[in-house]
Parts: sequence; structure tokens; C-alpha cells
Amino acid sequence: MKNIFNRIKNYLSDSLIFLRKFIQEPSQVGSILPSSDFLAEEITKYVRSEEGPAPQRYLEAGAGTGAFTEYILKKMTPLDHLDIVEIDEVFCELLQKKYRANKNVHIYQGSILDWHPKVFYEGIISSLPFNAFDPAIVEEILLHYQLLTREGGIISYFEYQGFPEMKKIIFGSQMRKDSLKNAAWIAKFSAPYLLRRETIWKNFPPAIVHHLRMQK
Ligand SMILES: C[S@@+](CC[C@H](N)C(=O)[O-])C[C@H]1O[C@@H](n2cnc3c(N)ncnc32)[C@H](O)[C@@H]1O
Repeated sequence: MKNIFNRIKNYLSDSLIFLRKFIQEPSQVGSILPSSDFLAEEITKYVRSEEGPAPQRYLEAGAGTGAFTEYILKKMTPLDHLDIVEIDEVFCELLQKKYRANKNVHIYQGSILDWHPKVFYEGIISSLPFNAFDPAIVEEILLHYQLLTREGGIISYFEYQGFPEMKKIIFGSQMRKDSLKNAAWIAKFSAPYLLRRETIWKNFPPAIVHHLRMQK
């Protein structure tokens, strides 16, 4: 009972921080609420999905309040390593507090485009709000992910369902055009590597998760 109470309390507190951040930086945060457990379960589907030697390295881009981090850590073995790259200072402080006891988690505050580790990842879990970004940035980020993934590694990311239409209503037709351009470029980039695509309705807003198995 105490556990459920704590979970609800944490969810409400995280949601409030998230909403405040969205109001300050809408195009950077991209959503008014943290992702649901249903989306977290799907996007982390391939973390340690196959038998393999430890340690393995994973990268989470845009962790926010940690909605996916919990799931990644549950699936990883203690010998595996998780790098988190999050641009926002407030989110980073919260993540540092939550995961300070996890010695195999490293948190870096900055843009994913400035992250140049000398390692390749088994898996990249990305929650960057591609629909809200400029098309040229989305292209740059996906090519960057490709360079950071080992041969046969998996890139998992999501897009919000119906986002171009929402953008048109809120910001006008030019924004809708950018959003459609993004979606078209992402679809072209993903097609040769697509492993699985799944729509998650139990999320606000509903989201489409893409998993790509990368070949160089
Ligand atoms: C849609 S939120 C997702 C947050 C969380 N993973 C979730 O699912 O609830 C997008 C996150 O990406 C972060 N972000 C945006 N641009 C970024 C960038 N260039 N590099 C790293 N993080 C970024 C935002 O600060 C925000 O935390």
C-alpha cells in the first residue's frame, strides 16, 4: 500500500516538473506529460532481449524525468552500462538524485549532438521529440545515432501519432509542412533497417515506436 502511494506521489511530482519544463521549452521537451509505462515497456523491448556477453553498453537520449530509465535498468544486468544524455539542467539534477546509487549509470548534461564517446552501443533508446525539431536537426541526430551503434545494434525511438495535424492547429501550416518533411525523411532513413513498429495508444499523446537493427 505504501509502495503504491509512493509511486503515485513520485508520478505526480515528476509530471509537475515535466509540465513546467514544457511551458518553458515546448519544442525541446515536446510533450506535456512523461511517457506512460506502456510506451516505456515497448521502447525498451530490445534491451538485453538476446543472450550476449556482459558488459553491454546502452545509451538513453532525452531521459526527462526517467520514465524509460527505470525500465532500461530493470532489463540490464549489473555489469552492463547506461549512458544518459539529457540537455536540460533541471532534469539532469533530478536524474542524478534518482540514480546516484547506480554505479553503472553515467549522466551527461548536454546535447546528444555533442556526445562523442569512444565506444559503440548495443542499443540506443531515444525519446527526443523529432516531430517538434527542425528537419535538418532530425537528419543530423539519426546519422549520429547510426555512427554510435555497433553493427547489429538497435536504435529505438518514437514519434507522436498525428503530430503534423496537431502542429497545424496550434502553430499554423508551415509547422505542419516541417513535421511532414521530418516524418518523410525518418521513414526513408528507417526503411532498410526496420525490425518492428508498434503504435502505443495508451500514452498521451499516442505514439509510434520504431526499432531499427543497424547495419553499416
Ligand atoms: C518527449 S521528452 C521525453 C522524456 C522522457 N524520456 C519520457 O519519455 O517521459 C524529450 C526529452 O528530450 C530532451 N532533449 C531535447 N533535445 C535534446 C538534445 N538535443 N539532447 C539531449 N536531450 C534532449 C528534453 O529535455 C526532454 O527531456
